[in-house]
Amino acid sequence: SPYWPGLIEAYRDRLPVSDSTPVVTLQEGATPLVPAPELSRRTGCDVYLKVEGANPTGSFKDRGMTMAITKAVEEGAQAVICASTGNTSASAAAYAARAGLVCAVLVPQGKIALGKLAQALVHGAKLLQVDGNFDDCLALASKLSIDYPVSLVNSVNQYRIEGQKTASFEIVDVLGDAPDIHCLPVGNAGNITAYWQGYREYAADGTATRTPRMWGFQAAGAAPIVSGQVVEQPQTIATAIRIGNPASWTKALAARDESGGRIDAVTDRAILAAYRLLARSEAVFVEPASAASVAGLLQVAEAGELEPGQRVVCTVTGNGLKDPDWAISGAPAPVTVPVDAGVAAAQLGL
Ligand code: F0G
Repeated sequence: SPYWPGLIEAYRDRLPVSDSTPVVTLQEGATPLVPAPELSRRTGCDVYLKVEGANPTGSFKDRGMTMAITKAVEEGAQAVICASTGNTSASAAAYAARAGLVCAVLVPQGKIALGKLAQALVHGAKLLQVDGNFDDCLALASKLSIDYPVSLVNSVNQYRIEGQKTASFEIVDVLGDAPDIHCLPVGNAGNITAYWQGYREYAADGTATRTPRMWGFQAAGAAPIVSGQVVEQPQTIATAIRIGNPASWTKALAARDESGGRIDAVTDRAILAAYRLLARSEAVFVEPASAASVAGLLQVAEAGELEPGQRVVCTVTGNGLKDPDWAISGAPAPVTVPVDAGVAAAQLGL
């Protein structure tokens, strides 16, 4: 049927729900898998974008949050808590509002995009800015969830991973099999863990004939998995992935190694170049962190390490409207004209 009921209903038999589970959904999932002709031309591959900014709150977090909030309600929780670089808090706030739960969020002070802050506030979350980074926020949220009656909905919650794995299902359902390579940005490393789990489940029961190589990309100033060391002061313009001690570190390494993949660093300069290319050439407006997947793909291709002719999917994780500063600062200031066709035409170069 043309009606999409949300990912829990769509993949009910592959998720930890029963007939009596009270599903909390905003009809997330079923996001576009958009062919990327310019990236395909540049790489000699068949490249697609999984556009996760098309989810209800504008990021892939909604896939995990429909599951996490559903299970929180099923288990009788009254309140949920998360640490966030912005998107998790936006999603948790929305799904908690839908379910009538109290939502507490901890964000690194001054380091989250304004659109995401607006989302958490408009959906009624209790928001604290923490004088610390994301890793500090996560440690604090974990402690509060142990000592107080509040459920943690960060991706250390396995229900988040269960929901997020459905993105792999959708890709295989559309393409008819798994791609050769899957690229995605890596921050706290929940999403690469979830995609790998989804691909493995489809391959295990024969829905797909194979699994892809998982290629993860961290921002160069926040690349602990690449360097093998915690980054005490992570720095990147891609605030969503400004994380120095990822919770799912070892699971990301497993996804990389079991798939024959790679996890590399990309500079902020490369991230911004990919961000602009995506907007101008593919017409997909993403937030900077999302462009790390594409920056990484191009970097590997430019190093001569991408064999042409392969099918590649890049997840672009969040909507560009969440963090418009980088779109505006990279563009010339608009010119003001009188209500005069001649002047307007001259300015437009018509
Ligand atoms: N892209 C975006 C837009 C994100 O918001 C995040 C994570 C990632 C990529 C990385 O995904 O953490 O699963 O490796 N954002 C989290 C948050 C940390 O709080 O919103 P990951």
